[in-house]
Amino acid sequence: MNKTVLITGATSGLGYDFVKLFAADQYNLVLAARNGDKLHEIQQQYPQLKVTVIRKDLSIPGAAKEVFDELQAKGITVDVLVNNAGFGLMGKFDELSITKQTEMIQVNITALTELTHYFLPQMKLRRSGQIMNVASTAAFQPGPLMAVYYATKAFVLSFSEALVEELKGTGVTVTTLCPGPTRTKFGETASVENTKMFSRAMDSAAVAKQGYKALLRGQRVVVTGSLNKAGTIAAKFLPRSLSAKAAKYIAGEK
Ligand SMILES: NC(=O)c1ccc[n+]([C@@H]2O[C@H](COP(=O)([O-])OP(=O)(O)OC[C@H]3O[C@@H](n4cnc5c(N)ncnc54)[C@H](OP(=O)(O)O)[C@@H]3O)[C@@H](O)[C@H]2O)c1
Repeated sequence: MNKTVLITGATSGLGYDFVKLFAADQYNLVLAARNGDKLHEIQQQYPQLKVTVIRKDLSIPGAAKEVFDELQAKGITVDVLVNNAGFGLMGKFDELSITKQTEMIQVNITALTELTHYFLPQMKLRRSGQIMNVASTAAFQPGPLMAVYYATKAFVLSFSEALVEELKGTGVTVTTLCPGPTRTKFGETASVENTKMFSRAMDSAAVAKQGYKALLRGQRVVVTGSLNKAGTIAAKFLPRSLSAKAAKYIAGEK
């Protein structure tokens, strides 16, 4: 029987590339995002698979529980959970909208945490399951001018690595994907397309493929791209004040 994957943020960028990878391996798909037209367009691309679409705004409190309840009601078992939906915002913390920034925390942190909480017990009972949480190289240092975004990704990495240890021997794996700048709609949404950090953005399909392979292996953390790997290693050894300065520098215009 085909396994089922739930992918949040499936309508664009990395999420859509994950859709293609899982579909190629005959997974049934549960796709969640806000853009209903795009979700249905993707659904129609895979008539040979069972594709369930859930139009949901994960920035609204309680949305993750609604996703879980809808799948329970439909009797759909989730074998693989890909917590991918997320967005960033560039600007000084006090000058950015607090509403948008709390929505970011809701999508990047709360929805991811809640979905993991709801689906994990069933995976443990089956002694089988795979979770991929999409963090970022932003997880490794403070990020002036994207302070909340970097902090949300630090949460994702810390939370996910803690779960790896909690879940030893349960048959459930947790993989954290840490992409660096990647060509998707993220750049436009976050207003970071013209920054130094985006001058070497990676191809989204390549990043998703590295994440997919790591997930299948049950790898703990994957940082995509050799330059990004070097950056995260440097961030581990540099004083936090210096790595924050470096992050501020690359957030500047090209
Ligand atoms: N691209 C990069 O440079 C980069 C680097 C590191 C990490 N990441 C992370 O990678 C993940 C995927 O981003 P991406 O680069 O593929 O960006 P993207 O092309 O903008 O895709 C973001 C996805 O998240 C969904 N989403 C956004 N807000 C949502 C909400 N409120 N409720 C439900 N779904 C929502 C979007 O769908 P709808 O608009 O249809 O809702 C879309 O499918 C994010 O977690 C991001 O932080 C990206």
